[in-house]
Amino acid sequence: MSSKPHSHAQWSSRLAFTLAAVGSSVGLGNIWKFPYMTGESGGGAFVLVYLICILLIGLPILMSEWLLGRLGQKNPISTMSHISARLKRSPAWVLIGVAGVLGAYLILSFYSVIGGWALAFIADAASGSFETLTSDTAGSLFGGLLGDPTTLLAWHSAFMLMVILVVAGGVAGGLERAAKILMPLLAVMLIVLVGYAATTDGFADAAAWLLTPDFSKLDKDGVLAAMGHAFFTLSLGMGIMMAYGSYLSDDVNIGRTALIVVVLDTVIALLAGLAIFPVVFSNGLDAAAGPGLIFQTLPLAFGHMPGGEVFGVVFFVLLVFAAWTSGISLLEPIVEWLEEKTPMSRVGSAWVAGIATWLLGIATILSFNLWSDVAPLGMFAKFEGMTIFDLLDYATSKLMLPLTGLATIVFVGWFMGRDEVRSQLNMSDSAFSLWSFVARYIAPIGVVVVFASSL
Ligand code: TRP
Repeated sequence: MSSKPHSHAQWSSRLAFTLAAVGSSVGLGNIWKFPYMTGESGGGAFVLVYLICILLIGLPILMSEWLLGRLGQKNPISTMSHISARLKRSPAWVLIGVAGVLGAYLILSFYSVIGGWALAFIADAASGSFETLTSDTAGSLFGGLLGDPTTLLAWHSAFMLMVILVVAGGVAGGLERAAKILMPLLAVMLIVLVGYAATTDGFADAAAWLLTPDFSKLDKDGVLAAMGHAFFTLSLGMGIMMAYGSYLSDDVNIGRTALIVVVLDTVIALLAGLAIFPVVFSNGLDAAAGPGLIFQTLPLAFGHMPGGEVFGVVFFVLLVFAAWTSGISLLEPIVEWLEEKTPMSRVGSAWVAGIATWLLGIATILSFNLWSDVAPLGMFAKFEGMTIFDLLDYATSKLMLPLTGLATIVFVGWFMGRDEVRSQLNMSDSAFSLWSFVARYIAPIGVVVVFASSL
């Protein structure tokens, strides 16, 4: 394998690293998934649990993944096998890396389909079809798209192709530069949308609903969903941040950078919620509409606001960009691994991994139309009526991400030397004590309790 040049370059600067990490974490999870899950789980209580999970579980696990990656300097699987061998720990820890690569594959398969929806809506926005929408027909564009597998396949293919091309070309330098402009622009667009939402009569109700926890509306599965989403939105538990950490230079302060990523990611999600729910409330739409929520509500907002046609196009372009940078980060660890473990080149690995992911994505497309009644695990009461897409989402966000994340933080908290972790994190004594208390006790116990209560 040494015949193949494998340049394990480092990020050009701290800013570049932060941008790449923000690019991975901010994506469809913030703007598509967070609002629809909040809608399905009844609002404020879900949001509060999600915020607590981000802070007490997500943040320390993000730091753990980065420090492991920086120590291991390889793809997640090799990183875990090297570090556990060096520390004379069980080789089973390598399963963290294996689960990561598998999970990235499963997530990207449906992520690309949703990225395709966003692409389709650029075209819809540009054609002016938002302007004629009313509360009654708000869902019609989305419904039409969903019922048309061929069109869905075309957009899914286009999105996957965009991802493959960037990953095949190596660490995405040009995209990083674009991210510097486009990610802030996405935030600005969301603020514009929140501004519009503030003029609708549902704003106060929606804001109260989003920010006042009502725990009678949140069941145990909602708590698990909130925790799982904390992993999803921060790109945790799949070895992705570990893979990124392997490119991280020693002078980057992991804690500070992690905090920046977490805050930006959370702000974007909350803005998306504040933009969407007032439109839902003002127009009497269904907050629990599911995965189509933003595609049924935002077009209505753009259709009504001044300059909406332009804003609509710009918004969906930025959404695609955010999804693209996240999609790249999902393909990256699979490709890194193939590249190191097989004789394939980077380009070959990118195409093989990309096509395999694209194929599985077809099952998600069909879950929304021809196979919408197919429930492969329907014989178990818990999975009754769940489509293949539902199951992929469940298996990844509610099982694999939290379990792998748990294993990661247990490894760092309990199986690594304190001094090694400490020198990686480079914190003051008191900050490190607090960190290790959260990492050793609060985060793992939190994950276990949420799991136990939902099973
Ligand atoms: N965090 C991204 C989002 O919110 C999705 C994502 C990218 C992801 N990489 C990941 C989720 C790794 C889980 C694991 O859209």
